[in-house]
Amino acid sequence: MAAITLNVNGRAHTVDADPSTPLLYILSDDLALNGPKFGCGLGQCGACTVILRGRAVRSCVTPVSAVNGAEVTTLEGLGTIERPHPIQQAFIDEQAAQCGFCLNGVILTAKAFLDQNPKPSDAQIAQALSTTLCRCFTHTRMLRAIKKYAGLRSPETQASFGPASRPDEMGLARRSAEGAKATGRAL
Ligand code: FES
Ligand code: FES
Repeated sequence: MAAITLNVNGRAHTVDADPSTPLLYILSDDLALNGPKFGCGLGQCGACTVILRGRAVRSCVTPVSAVNGAEVTTLEGLGTIERPHPIQQAFIDEQAAQCGFCLNGVILTAKAFLDQNPKPSDAQIAQALSTTLCRCFTHTRMLRAIKKYAGLRSPETQASFGPASRPDEMGLARRSAEGAKATGRAL
């Protein structure tokens, strides 16, 4: 066991853990975050995705020691139910979730991808999401939400992005199951 310091969603945490412990276990068990989900535990479904060093990584197969002081972003770190990030708002608007279990992986994978590829084709989005699995088959709505968010990232609106961006124009997320799923507050 060792004392390990993590920066998660803008806050520093120190946990006592074996350095080989999967990051997912630390996020779920020690930091009580609901966004990252345990799905396959094998790096294959994407439910446990976090953003690390600008890339979407699977926290179930990432040892906590690999974080090494870098900022970790989970779905909770993008926005809140009251003030969702625009990509979360797009998923709420399009009602892109059914059970919502996959949403953490889908939203974070899409965000990391779009941060690197601001004007992707439908085929590129589908490719980026191809290993992020959804058992409820809401892919069409998810694609709509992702394209909506991608459209908002035009140069004219780029400057206003951020967790607390444009509440008047985007509208506050209703306190609903949709908002909870899209912001990582749902179990
Ligand atoms: S739980 Fe990590 S990829 Fe499935
Ligand atoms: S909405 Fe249920 S797994 Fe995707």
